[in-house]
Amino acid sequence: MALLEIRRLAVDFTGPRRVRAVDGVDLDIGREECVAIVGESGSGKSQLLLACVGLLAANGRAQGSVRFEGRELLGAGDPAAAVRGGGIGFVFQDAGGSLTPHLRIGDQLAEAAVAVRGASWQSARADAVRMLERVQLPAAAQQCARYPHELSGGMRQRVAIALALMPRPQLLFADEPTTALDVTVQADVVALLAALCRDLGMALVLVTHDLGVVASLAARIAVMYAGRIVELADAERFLRQPRHPYGAGLLASVPTLAAAAGPMATIAGAPPAPGTAFAGCRFEPRCGRAEARCRVEDPALVAGDGGLVACHFPLDAGPQP
Ligand SMILES: Nc1ncnc2c1ncn2[C@@H]1O[C@H](COP(=O)(O)OP(=O)(O)OP(=O)(O)O)[C@@H](O)[C@H]1O
Ligand code: SF4
Ligand SMILES: [Mg+2]
Repeated sequence: MALLEIRRLAVDFTGPRRVRAVDGVDLDIGREECVAIVGESGSGKSQLLLACVGLLAANGRAQGSVRFEGRELLGAGDPAAAVRGGGIGFVFQDAGGSLTPHLRIGDQLAEAAVAVRGASWQSARADAVRMLERVQLPAAAQQCARYPHELSGGMRQRVAIALALMPRPQLLFADEPTTALDVTVQADVVALLAALCRDLGMALVLVTHDLGVVASLAARIAVMYAGRIVELADAERFLRQPRHPYGAGLLASVPTLAAAAGPMATIAGAPPAPGTAFAGCRFEPRCGRAEARCRVEDPALVAGDGGLVACHFPLDAGPQP
């Protein structure tokens, strides 16, 4: 049994127009596995994770099934208990903003250990310092007395990761944990996450726009487009030869020093507006491989060549290494 089993997960938002942000996602996360989720802005990456732990906005509703260690989270009285209870840690997209501004860093971290593990305040405070050292925050003991606004962005990011780890989760959701950081700090945080997963035996679901981060961390990669997973594959195979035209477009858009002199590759067109209804493939208006069938028949996510792909005319997987 996988640690996390997501089945037919759909997320709808009500408002001036109904928006289906996540549309029938199936995904398993194994113990100690690192899976990356990539896709353009608005493709549903954050809502997928938030739905799993019951943290959607008030106008959002999730359907389907999310099982953590076999226990159903959706429809449970309080699915967010999985987060507070220490099973799943969450580093939010605006990680710095998820810290409580008027509480000292040390108190915030200690509180998480007291509330979840029932630790005494004295041992929780000592634990907080150890965790800050683990995430390589300089002068960890002194930082405990400071407030979030007194730290740099990179330091707040490390504190947010430490906060998510205090309950000792088996699974960490990290939603773009490096986006707001400069390149050298990004590399540090990525190395830190890899080390933490290894040392703590923790699984990781990492949402990122950065395929360089994927290459260094993830065993598998899920590509999301307009609320769906359109490709799910071993990271190594995906980075060598994506099979979905959208995945190939994402990979071709990664800037490289060699190509810096020329025009930057992009994916033509724009993602569909929220609330768009689809008859066939949702990538069809932007796809260079589209044929008549694509306009009328929605491609299912099916197995083939070391992964799953939702495309009537996928790219060749190429020779196996
Ligand atoms: N409270 C809400 N009400 C209505 N629509 C919403 C709400 N929250 C999110 N959405 C919509 O859900 C869709 C998916 O949003 P989501 O936050 O998952 O995108 P994302 O893939 O994480 O993008 P980004 O890379 O920019 O973070 C978007 O179209 C967004 O506008
Ligand atoms: S199904 Fe057709 S339109 Fe969609 S990605 Fe595949 S080739 Fe392109
Ligand atoms: Mg997001």
